[in-house]
Parts: sequence; C-alpha cells; structure tokens
Amino acid sequence: MAVIENAKITVVGAGAVGAATAYASLIRGAARHVALYDINAAKVEAEVLDLAHGSLFTGTSDITGSADVAVTEGSHVVIVTAGAAQQPGQTRLQLVGTNARIFSKMIPELVEASPKAVFVIVSNPCDVLTVLAQEQTGLPPERLFASGTVLDTSRLRWRLAERAGVAASSVHANIAGEHGDSQFPMWSTATIGSVPLLDWQPEHGEKFTIEELDTLAYEVAHAAYKVIEGKGATNYAIGLSATRIAEAVLRDEHAVMPVSTVLHDYHGLSDVALSVPHIVGARGATPILEAPFSDKELELLHASADAIKTTLAGVRA
Ligand code: LAC
Repeated sequence: MAVIENAKITVVGAGAVGAATAYASLIRGAARHVALYDINAAKVEAEVLDLAHGSLFTGTSDITGSADVAVTEGSHVVIVTAGAAQQPGQTRLQLVGTNARIFSKMIPELVEASPKAVFVIVSNPCDVLTVLAQEQTGLPPERLFASGTVLDTSRLRWRLAERAGVAASSVHANIAGEHGDSQFPMWSTATIGSVPLLDWQPEHGEKFTIEELDTLAYEVAHAAYKVIEGKGATNYAIGLSATRIAEAVLRDEHAVMPVSTVLHDYHGLSDVALSVPHIVGARGATPILEAPFSDKELELLHASADAIKTTLAGVRA
C-alpha cells in the first residue's frame, strides 16, 4: 500500500517500454493514479483504452492518458521512457543525439507540470540523459535520476539464482557503472544468503569459478542485445524495474538500489551519473558513500565514467 494517498505515477512515452511500465504499475497497484503521456494521440489513447479494459482485474488504480502534457500534472513520480529506442546492433550511447534533443524540450514541461515530483529517467542512454536533464532543470540530483543498472542487477541475480539453486531475492549482488556496455558486477561484495559467492556450494553442481563469473557478467551486459535481436525491443523487465523504483519512492522505503544520480565527489567522481548503491525513498535517491568497491571495481567505475563523459562531451560539442 502506498504511503502517499492518491499517489500518481506518470509514464512518459507510450511505446513498448512505457506501455509495459504503465501495465506493471497497474497490476502491482503501485499508485492510485497512473497517467500515460505521449505526443502521438492515437497511440496513447489506444494504449490507455487497452489498459483500462482490464480495470476489473487491476484493483483500485485508474489509468488516464493524453497527448496533452496537462495529463501529467501533479505527479509524485514521473517515469520518462520517451525517445528513440535501440535498434538491433546499436549501442545505447548511439541514441544520445536524438534523445537529448527530445529531452531538452520535454523535460522542462514535465517539471513545470509536476514541480515536486521525483523523475526517473529510463530513456537511453539513461546516465547521459540524466546529467543533461539535471543540469537543465537544476533539480536536486536526488530528485532526478536514472533507472540505471536496476534491471541489469535483476538480470544478474536471476542468472546467479538459477545456477545456485536459490531465490533471486536471496542473491545479494549488484551491477554498477553505466547502464550499457561498460557496466560491471560488484563481485567483491557479492553473497548468496550471507555466503561469499565463490564459497557457495550448490546442491547440484560445482562451485562458481572466476571464468564462469566473467562469462556471466558479459552475458548480463549484453542481454538486451539478444532480446532486441529476437523481438525488436526490451520492455517487460524494464517496465517492472521502473515500477519497483517508483514504489520505493511512493512508500518511502529507503530501499537500496543501484540507480544512477549525478555524483558529487564520489570515489573521485563528479558531474557524471553512474549506478552505485543508493537509498531510494520519498526524497529520491542518495548514493551510499560507504559502498565498498575493490581496487579493480573502482577502476571499472572510472572507466564507465569516462565512457559517459566522452558521450557527454560529444553531445555538448
Ligand atoms: C534494457 C534497456 C532498457 O537494458 O536498456 O533492456
């Protein structure tokens, strides 16, 4: 049950990701009101009708939608999924030009309509767009952040859980860095239950090896490419991830999640948005300063920051 009464989530963009996010928000009962906004009136109206037709089965949440930005007014959480999506073989960073242009017009309008909201950026490259949007709006970094590697972390935990023979919720392992090719697992602190990953003995099968974990990390980082190759987009898992973040905000959960805010003096990094463990609640997301990174992981974090900063420099040029 949401802590905020009459909570409102707005999902911006009625494409595959936006529709899946609205659907996840409805079926999880994440907020009393769910609004969908897209400049394509026919598409947004059709998606809203299709979602509303299931109202009998989705509890007390209602769904509205429009091509008029007024539909977003007074939101508590705004989840932004609008923009160009990755095509087969394309990296997320390659979307930056188109989506930065869309954001520069759209984000100020959304902030004006919901000045107190927490903004969750899902459109890609989400880390880069978060830096640009935070800079443009001047919102405090905790109130405008990217979904980051919350989804990648779910992908990782699912794979480890299957292999270890435990529930995904019993795997404690995070992906950090860019929501993109340079992301990396924080292996040094990963546990199953409280057992260090490399010590875990599955009931059937061998212990994990470093080589196996390297392969797994590569597969997780490239998981979206495989899905896009087969069905043209990823949508269900990202819709669930974004909804889960919105729930943590609306319920003031103080849940630890690897979202991505613009960092300030974080392990030597500033003015770049990257996923590291954050506390997510009603005020938004704040990085956990004490999160432990091994020397190798710190190197990878800085390499991820470089990838994002290079893309930022390109878009600003
Ligand atoms: C993915 C998209 C959301 O990783 O970037 O599925």
